Amino acid sequence: MFSKKICDSLASGSMIRAMFEQGNKLKAQFGADNVFDFALGNPDPEPDQEIIDDIRALAGEPGIHKYMSNAGFTDVREKIADHMSAESGRAFTAEDIVMVVGAAAGLSVTFHSLLDPGDEVITLAPYFMEYNSYVGNQGGVVRPVPTLRGSFRPDVPAIRAAITARTKAIILNSPNNPSGAVYPEEDLVALSEALDDAEAEFGHPVYVVSDEPYAKIIYDGVKVPSVARIFRNSITVNSFSKSLALPGERIGFVAVCPDMADKDLLDAALVYSNRTLGFVNAPAIFQKVVVNHLDRAVGLDAYRERRDMLYDILTGAGFECTKPQGAFYLFPKSPIPDDKEFAAIALRHRTIVVAGSGFSYPGYFRLSYCVSRDTIKGSEKAFREIMKEIGQ
Ligand SMILES: Cc1ncc(COP(=O)(O)O)c(C=O)c1O
Repeated sequence: MFSKKICDSLASGSMIRAMFEQGNKLKAQFGADNVFDFALGNPDPEPDQEIIDDIRALAGEPGIHKYMSNAGFTDVREKIADHMSAESGRAFTAEDIVMVVGAAAGLSVTFHSLLDPGDEVITLAPYFMEYNSYVGNQGGVVRPVPTLRGSFRPDVPAIRAAITARTKAIILNSPNNPSGAVYPEEDLVALSEALDDAEAEFGHPVYVVSDEPYAKIIYDGVKVPSVARIFRNSITVNSFSKSLALPGERIGFVAVCPDMADKDLLDAALVYSNRTLGFVNAPAIFQKVVVNHLDRAVGLDAYRERRDMLYDILTGAGFECTKPQGAFYLFPKSPIPDDKEFAAIALRHRTIVVAGSGFSYPGYFRLSYCVSRDTIKGSEKAFREIMKEIGQ
């Protein structure tokens, strides 16, 4: 028969995907305009015209479609290294950069390079549940530590308590999916002290894997602190799925902090993993496209406007919600303790949300505002009726 592990995983399913399917059914029944689907974080703006122009021009460049070094084009990696150096104040070189097939592949390549079976990886809940697969595929075990209620800031004493001799890494994701929280510098500094103490106690580092696809999707002048600056033992995983609205093109990079001990070995391990996991190299045209747009954030003003609209609608209807400073999600508190029951009630009002349990953080729910203004406006009545049904 087929793989038992995969068949079991298929049976347990993804909550986001399940809501996506429910949404499609409702749309077929009631018409797309009468369904308020906040389930999927799929960037809806088109890439800027300059990006499209670059794609067209590069497609005709002689030699661009050939095999290359598994790490990616050297000139591209040099530019990304310069960018990482400017942001972090550390001296990245092209050797420290591996171009990858989006952040998802970047995380798989990273954990393939880091983990032995039984190694533990701390995640800060709420978190993107695909981490369970990227870590589990390598025989690693995820150890979720909840962030603080409401602010979704890291709970550093709880992280300290969760570190064991088997802890190999901790994943940071700021701006965060699903909470939209941007972790403040002071929390990261406190965390770096905790990781230094753990290294002294257990005799090996706890690596910080910083998953940063939303780093450019930020509002209200907030600054995202550079993880590579604060943590010597850091691996930055980035992608252009969100910032350039190119999720279907699968392009990103992994950057190893140049001041990490044995960093040459990790650089080589990442390139080896990229090849042997079957990615071989990142898409050629898109490597060359993205380096021209490293600071761009496509659709940021529209996201901000929709965040504000949806936030006002929700709080106006009586929901408790922290206004996020990044990403394109809101993560309000469920007005009833059972967040899955809440998602089911919302569905009866043709409103699709994802229960916080789907992010290892029960009692909350996620809304993605990668949707039209009309969908957001139309949802106001539904949210008020949901609250009425619940008796709030
Ligand atoms: C937190 C987080 N990490 C990683 C990814 C994967 O991104 P990519 O499209 O670059 O693989 C996503 C996608 O939604 C995400 O939300």
